[in-house]
Amino acid sequence: MVEFALPQNSKIEEGKIFKKKNSKNLKLIEIYRWERDSGRKPRIDKFYIELDKVGPMLLDALMYIKNELDPSLTFRRSCREGICGSCSMNIDGTNSLACLKPLEKNQKKLKIYPLPHMKVIKDLVPDLSEFFEQYKSIKPWLRPKSKPKNTEILQSPEERKKLDGLYECVLCACCSTSCPSYWWNGDKFLGPAILLQAYRFIVDSRDKDTEKRIQMLNDAFKLYRCHTIMNCTKTCPKGLNPAKAIASIKKLQISS
Ligand code: SF4
Ligand code: SF4
Ligand code: FES
Repeated sequence: MVEFALPQNSKIEEGKIFKKKNSKNLKLIEIYRWERDSGRKPRIDKFYIELDKVGPMLLDALMYIKNELDPSLTFRRSCREGICGSCSMNIDGTNSLACLKPLEKNQKKLKIYPLPHMKVIKDLVPDLSEFFEQYKSIKPWLRPKSKPKNTEILQSPEERKKLDGLYECVLCACCSTSCPSYWWNGDKFLGPAILLQAYRFIVDSRDKDTEKRIQMLNDAFKLYRCHTIMNCTKTCPKGLNPAKAIASIKKLQISS
């Protein structure tokens, strides 16, 4: 299980209880609430949802809360299919996507927090600016030798296969925010999500900057802060293996 840590200096207070009159077959969801610049302390609000009236996933329960109990509850979501990577949060101690997490009907209580060790903007919305700056730093686009003239850049089936297990990453940051090395050195260590993305371009046969990409990561912090703790791989809600991608980059550096 991924350990949970609160945003810095948080002292959490008890919040409000939200429950509809005469509601039945209830499940309690406790949710972290806080707003940057509000001057108020974080609190945990308790929401009782009616299991007979919500869809099967945790995201459905959050939508029920927003629509029926408290419209000010703030979280990100878009696709509800595990594709956009927006609804990542810490669910009962594990980072995951709310839209891929089934609501266990027999479990009566659930705790939801924002992704660990990130600055919080509001409630379940973390500030991912630095995470996406790091993504930008690896130049996440193809850099072919010359511009193709109105044509595709072809790959053989074998070359295309090398991207499996990499291209599916939805940049949800569940892995990076479960990584202790990223917690302590997130400003310098790129973290598992960005390193998996870096590897995705390193192994793409259409990209001709492979060597530059490998060398750019040859740095005590950017890559080598990974100590193979493996939280990232355990956590990924898409079943990917960022730790393996990191190990593969290290191997390439030795052989290059
Ligand atoms: S394997 Fe590396 S990147 Fe993954 S959690 Fe461990 S230290 Fe972090
Ligand atoms: S590797 Fe998995 S956990 Fe990490 S950002 Fe990509 S999809 Fe999310
Ligand atoms: S809403 Fe898009 S991944 Fe959950």
